[in-house]
Amino acid sequence: MTLAQPPEPSTRTSGLVIRTPRRYDLRLWLGSRGREGRFRDEEIRLARIRPGERVLDLGCGTGSLAIAAARAVGRAGTVTAIDPSNEMLARARSKARRARVDATFVATAGEALPFPDAGFDVVLISLVLHQLPSDALHGTMVQVRRVLRPGGRLFVVDLGTPEAGKRTVHSHGTPASGGARFTLDGLEMFFDHLGLRVVERGDIEFRFRNLEPLRYVLAEA
Ligand SMILES: C[S@@+](CC[C@H](N)C(=O)[O-])C[C@H]1O[C@@H](n2cnc3c(N)ncnc32)[C@H](O)[C@@H]1O
Repeated sequence: MTLAQPPEPSTRTSGLVIRTPRRYDLRLWLGSRGREGRFRDEEIRLARIRPGERVLDLGCGTGSLAIAAARAVGRAGTVTAIDPSNEMLARARSKARRARVDATFVATAGEALPFPDAGFDVVLISLVLHQLPSDALHGTMVQVRRVLRPGGRLFVVDLGTPEAGKRTVHSHGTPASGGARFTLDGLEMFFDHLGLRVVERGDIEFRFRNLEPLRYVLAEA
């Protein structure tokens, strides 16, 4: 019997790929009033990251969460971070060097994770899934489930319901998402099918000035 090989890395995706890393970091800095670090610490706490764990950050962008994760897992753990944008990855690598943390950055999309089955204890997906149309979302979730070890955790942070009358980045995602708005509740419908069990969900208290409220879900494989 031949074992299926993991896919080759590929940056091809129908998702909305961001090519402007400096502008992205500036938006987060302004939106968080310079306190993005607190938001990242909150994500690490809610994902229950422990020293020694093997973490995958999917759609890592400019690397702030991957860097926080690398600090949390320490030398005994590993952080691998992927994004289809070489521009975002270049900034992520230089931020990690400056922060003196070890993390491996790989150019690929969530639909093509070039990693063996069950090789990660935790997969983090922060502010990514609302940018994926349903084919990319489905392909990514199948890959996430494959690389997560039995008992491993998936932690997703994404946009909550837009507030009436307020500007929303949901609308930026509309063309890429084929007109359908991504919601975390909708995502949870995939979970059963993939054998993921929700262990916690809720609101993130940290508020960005230019984003609607954020929600999270933590699930176990
Ligand atoms: C809004 S940013 C979030 C970045 C980071 N996770 C954070 O919390 O700041 C979304 C990222 O998803 C990436 N992306 C787009 N399509 C993707 C896909 N198919 N797989 C993985 N990442 C993707 C974009 O290039 C971008 O860097």
